Amino acid sequence: MTASPIQPSILKFSILKPSDRIFCALDTTDTDKAVALAKQLQGVVGGVKLGLEFFCANGADGFKAVAATGMPIFLDLKFHDIPNTVAGAIRAVAPLAPKILTVHTQGGPEMMRRAAETAAEEAEKHGVARPWVTGVTILTSMDDADLAAIGVKDTVADQVARLAALASENGLDGMVCSPKEIALARTATHTGFKLVVPGIRPVGSATGDQKRVMTPSDAVTAGADVLVIGRPITQADDPRASAVAIAASING
Ligand code: C5P
Repeated sequence: MTASPIQPSILKFSILKPSDRIFCALDTTDTDKAVALAKQLQGVVGGVKLGLEFFCANGADGFKAVAATGMPIFLDLKFHDIPNTVAGAIRAVAPLAPKILTVHTQGGPEMMRRAAETAAEEAEKHGVARPWVTGVTILTSMDDADLAAIGVKDTVADQVARLAALASENGLDGMVCSPKEIALARTATHTGFKLVVPGIRPVGSATGDQKRVMTPSDAVTAGADVLVIGRPITQADDPRASAVAIAASING
């Protein structure tokens, strides 16, 4: 066992506590707010998610400020470019030691292989744990008509299954999927492929703009590994208490 302080316990799902499965989405451009929430959620979630909004506003310095709280970070930048450029982007963020990264599976097999290889090489070079490189398939904002408009004749479900299988065959560690895609993602991918699932709403919580939601407990039972939960925690009067209640609602 390595004694590195940034070794992610999240990579060992057999011993996962329910709270470790929760990554809280900090959708803000305000570093102070993000740091305050990360501090508040210490020990009651597995990590926090920083996305394009936060990273475009605050860059690596913002990331480092949140990481300094000790919170594992899911850096959701959805890389999509030629293989060489995606590899370069992964080299650029590797020293930050994110626990989870995202790439678009529509970048194709070679892009996914290069992303996974580069993440492994860079983690070794920097002496940090290898991040999970996870794939985004079809954005949940798109429906069958949107796919037809860009020349894709298949349904969203068929295209998600195709891209999930490609991701699984080309070295990615997992994928991001909506709760309703968990079953088809499990069928299309290899055992141990990690499913990172947003669109989670505790019982009685406002759905906001999420159209297809599942409770934390149902999503884990269906096969989700990580639950990405934003507003039900960040907009609560007491975010820490909300995260504790959500973790308590998850069986196993
Ligand atoms: O606040 P809420 O729980 O809806 O936040 C969910 C997070 O997951 C947001 O950061 C959102 O951008 C992200 N996400 C999503 N649906 C996807 C992919 C990512 O809601 N299909």
